[in-house]
This record gives sequence, structure tokens and C-alpha cells, in this order.
Amino acid sequence: MCGIVGYIGKREAYPIVIKGLKRLEYRGYDSAGVALLNGDMRIYKTKGKVANLEELVGKSDVSAHIGMGHTRWATHGEPNDANAHPHLSDSGDLSIIHNGIIENYATLKEGLLQRGHKFSSDTDTEVLAHLIEDVMQNAKLSLADAVRASLKQVVGAYAIVILSKNHPEHVIAARKGSPLVVGIGSDRGEYFFASDATPIVEYTKKVVYLKDGEIAIVENQEMIIKSIDNVVQVPYVQELELNLEQLEKGGYEHFMLKEIYEQPKSIFDSYRGRFDAPTGTFHMRSLEEHADKLKDIKRLILIGCGTSWHAGLVAEYLFEDFARLPVEVEYASEFRYRNPVLYSDDLVVAISQSGETADTLAAMDLSKRKSATVFGVCNVVGSSIPRLSDAGAYTHAGPEIGVASTKAFTAQVTVLTLLALGIAKLRGTMSIQAISEVMKELEQIPAKIEKALKLNDEIVELSKLYKDSRNFLYLGRGYNFPVALEGALKLKEISYIHAEGYPAAEMKHGPIALIDAEMPVVVIATNSEHYEKVVSNIQEVKARKGRVIAVVSEGNKTLNSLVDHVIEVPETIEALSPLINTIPLQLLSYHIAVMRGCNVDQPRNLAKSVTVE
Ligand code: G6P
Repeated sequence: MCGIVGYIGKREAYPIVIKGLKRLEYRGYDSAGVALLNGDMRIYKTKGKVANLEELVGKSDVSAHIGMGHTRWATHGEPNDANAHPHLSDSGDLSIIHNGIIENYATLKEGLLQRGHKFSSDTDTEVLAHLIEDVMQNAKLSLADAVRASLKQVVGAYAIVILSKNHPEHVIAARKGSPLVVGIGSDRGEYFFASDATPIVEYTKKVVYLKDGEIAIVENQEMIIKSIDNVVQVPYVQELELNLEQLEKGGYEHFMLKEIYEQPKSIFDSYRGRFDAPTGTFHMRSLEEHADKLKDIKRLILIGCGTSWHAGLVAEYLFEDFARLPVEVEYASEFRYRNPVLYSDDLVVAISQSGETADTLAAMDLSKRKSATVFGVCNVVGSSIPRLSDAGAYTHAGPEIGVASTKAFTAQVTVLTLLALGIAKLRGTMSIQAISEVMKELEQIPAKIEKALKLNDEIVELSKLYKDSRNFLYLGRGYNFPVALEGALKLKEISYIHAEGYPAAEMKHGPIALIDAEMPVVVIATNSEHYEKVVSNIQEVKARKGRVIAVVSEGNKTLNSLVDHVIEVPETIEALSPLINTIPLQLLSYHIAVMRGCNVDQPRNLAKSVTVE
């Protein structure tokens, strides 16, 4: 939530900042702004997207070698020009951009108001700018010390960058709870600051991910990193694995479509080198290093939000079937505020694309405090979730930029399949031969997805018929119940059509009342042990004149006369069927949303990385 980017060095700051903001726009697009420091502090900010900001800036003089920008997902205060970042201190000396929430801002603001401060926005961020200046003036502290002292008073989460007109050789950045990465440029004194590495990658591959409670101070061309208690830290400089190509649309109209089409490769990348199918052996460091612990776990708790929670639901079936373990799947946002009963032989699996979801992080923290072992399944390398995990495996799906998750979901399901098989092997709940069979079938999945993607033209035609529907119902059973939930989520996220996913058998306990000739019902009816039961559910829908779109296994013609449309997908074993059955549902949502004129990559009100609770 909210993207921040900053630059100090010899290059022109504005183009770097604007380009960076475009890359970070997936984090929020309610408003955008820049601050440029070149003798004076010039601020341009506006409601709306980065494109609106560029329009506002127009032909103004933007030359500066120090600058920063912000793209906002509104928390405090409506998304208008005044609430857009950067915000200024009372005197106008300091400007600040911020991602996160200052929870005690009202109390801090009260004190500042009493001391005569005047505010021009409703945001928590402006309070921080005033507070730092107040501390600097009253306690006669240097800028860096005033930032530290002020942050000590703050309750909440932040990633901030601060510029000062009176200290033009300084840039100060700090993080707690919200991500911040510093890029080290090739010239002495050149530094980049950003919420993630995507705005930095084309300038340098050398980065430092700030840790919680750290402050980066650039002063007279040198950077030092200190803890909030003023102890100098030794930065860990990492080499970025990202490349620019991964951040471009590569000829596709939208990132979402590109990411849907990348799935044969992203799934392959998520398992590549991690097992040997003929012998049923694993090459996963996390499994090897933690074998003793994983062998003895008594229960699994899977936590996540949104699509990642759906991946957890698929994994529930996998872990029960393969590893014969009791499994619970929890929304991280609920779990963190309950008083869950956890034991040291519980394994908590935290699933996340971004690795920054605030609720998932808090749920992990709670689990660790209650002595459970936490295993992270995450896509973004170097993000907070892997760093908080006791063990983990990256999904290696590559950067996912479309706000609606597609390839990250299938990569999560793939990695969770490996984890379930790995734990099954350690616990002896599956024979080597059975493990080897699943692995062999997994190796067929990329080619089968390639084939499923050929359904695209057919799905375009189908989308034309249903694009004006007001509601959709998605039904599935067993492994494909979470697929129904994910299909419905995709459609509502990007097309704004109301959609619900349901276990097929539960339909008769409520949603059946909604069914009439206007209601499209997508039913996942691929071959499985529940197939006949799903067909009965289809009959129930048809008896009420609902319009059924059935996803069936290739070659199954038996439903042609019963349903309105049939989508034939390549067949696989039931445990891996979510990987394939998800594909046509992603395409259906995508095309319907495009036909409705929606912004599929940046749907309204949503953000890709949810760093507030
Ligand atoms: C947001 C995104 C979803 C994502 C969810 C969880 O809502 O829009 O696509 O599934 O957060 O995010 P995570 O990064 O933890 O998977």
C-alpha cells in the first residue's frame, strides 16, 4: 500500500522518480506527488494516477538532483489533492513521503496543535513532518537525531523518506513494518530509495533492504544505517536477481494477460531443480535442514489473505491426502486477533505473494510467540515474510504486477504440493512410488497449461455473451471448491460484477434461491471422484433455468446437451487439477473486465501489497 521512491545523485531526479512511481503504482493509485529539491523545495501533487501528476507538472522546471515521489492508497483522509503526499512541516523546510499508518497520530496532532502548529491535510503523515520539525527546534537536535527521536514516539507502521531544504545534502529514510529498499548507485553519493526494487533495477543491482527499526542517513555523499537507538549497523548489500524485461508488458495489452500466459514457465520455475521424479527424491533446502522438525509436526495451520488464502485452501486437501496431517486454514486477519491454541509441534505456513501483507506478518509473529514453527511460502525475494520465517521456500514466479493475482497463485499451489509431498515422505504416509507418480504428473502441468491457454479465443466468445451479467456463481467440490472461490474473486476484483464461489453441494442451502435465467453459474466438473455429484448439482441449477458454463475434462461430451457452454481442459490427477482449472477462469475474468472497459491491472480501490491491517 502506497509506493515511495527517492533519489539523490548526479542524474536528474524527476524522470527517475516518475518512472519509479509508475512501477510502484500497483501499490495504490488514489493520488500521486513529487518533491524536488534544488535550492527550494518544489512540490507537485494531485488526486488520481501518476499520469495525472505528469499532466499537472506539464512543462514546469523540474531540474533537480534530489527528489522523491509517492503514489497513495488512502488510509487517513479522502483521496484529494491536499491529502496527497509529499507533506510539509510547519515552516516548509521538511517534506516527507510515507507508507503505513501512524496509529497514535491523533494524540501527537493534539500536542502539536497546542504548540501552534497548523495542518493542511487530514493525514497521519503530515503530523510526522510537523513532529520532526518540532523536535528538531525544541530539543535542538540534528535532522537525523530529530527523526530518530520522533520515530520513538510513533506507534504504527512506516516507511518514510525525508528531504530538507535547509539540509540539501541529506536524505533520510526509515522503516518499521512497511518495506524500504536502498539502491547503491555506481557514482559516489548516488542512492535510490523505494518500496520495492522495481524502480531501482535499471540503475543498480546493489541494494540494501532496511530492517525494521533502521534509519538510513545519507549525508555529504555517504550513507550510514543506524538503529533507532543510534547504534551503527553493518548493511547487508545484496545483488538483485530482477531484470527489466520482467517488469515490462512484453507486447501484451495488460500485465494480467502477460502473467496468465507466463504460467507454464512460472510453474516450471517454481518446481525446477527441487525434485527428481523417477526416484521420488527432493532437493529442497528447507526440507533437508528442517527434516527433524517437519517429521514430528502434529498439525498444520495455513495462513494468508485473498488469493493466498485460496492457495491455502487447496493445500488443505493436499496435506490431508498426502501427509495425513490435521490442517486448519485461517484468514491471517482473523487469526491474529483470536487467542489461538498453538503448540511447539504445530507448523504454521504463511502464504504470500508480496511478503509484506501486514495481517499475515502479525499472524506469523503471534505464532512464533506461541512457539509454533513458521514456514513461509512467498514470491518476493528479500521481503519481510521470508525474513520472519523459521524456514521457507520461494515460489519463483517472477514479479507479478497486475493487482489481481494469477501466476503467483498457481506457483503457490505448486510449492505447497511439493511441501505436502515432502512432509508425506518424511512421515512415511506415501510410498516413494506414489510420490514419484505425482512428481511425474507435475512435470506434465506446464505443457497442459500451454494447451489450456489455447482456449483463449473460445473464452473471448463466451465473455461477449456474459459481460453484462450482474451476478455470477462459481461452484466446485473437493480440490476445486477453492478454485471456485478464486474464480469468483478474480471476476469481482477486476470486472466489479458481483460473484460468489460456493462448494457445489452447499448451493442448495442458500444461493439456489438466486438462480434464474439471468444467473450464469460456472461449474468445475472435471473428472474426479465427485464428478457424478457435481453433475447432480448442475441438474439442480438447470431445473431452475440457470445458465451453466461447465469446465470439464478433455473428451467429456456427456454434458453438452445439459449445459449451456462447455470448456474442455486437459486432464490431470485430481490433486493437481486446480493448477489447470484455474486458467480458463482467469481468462474469463480478464476478457469480461476488458470488455466492460475496466482497468484490469489497477482495479478500483484495490492495492497489490496490503501493508496496513
Ligand atoms: C491483496 C491483493 C491480492 C492478494 C492479497 C494477499 O488483496 O490484491 O491479490 O491475494 O492482497 O497478498 P499477499 O501478497 O500476501 O499474497
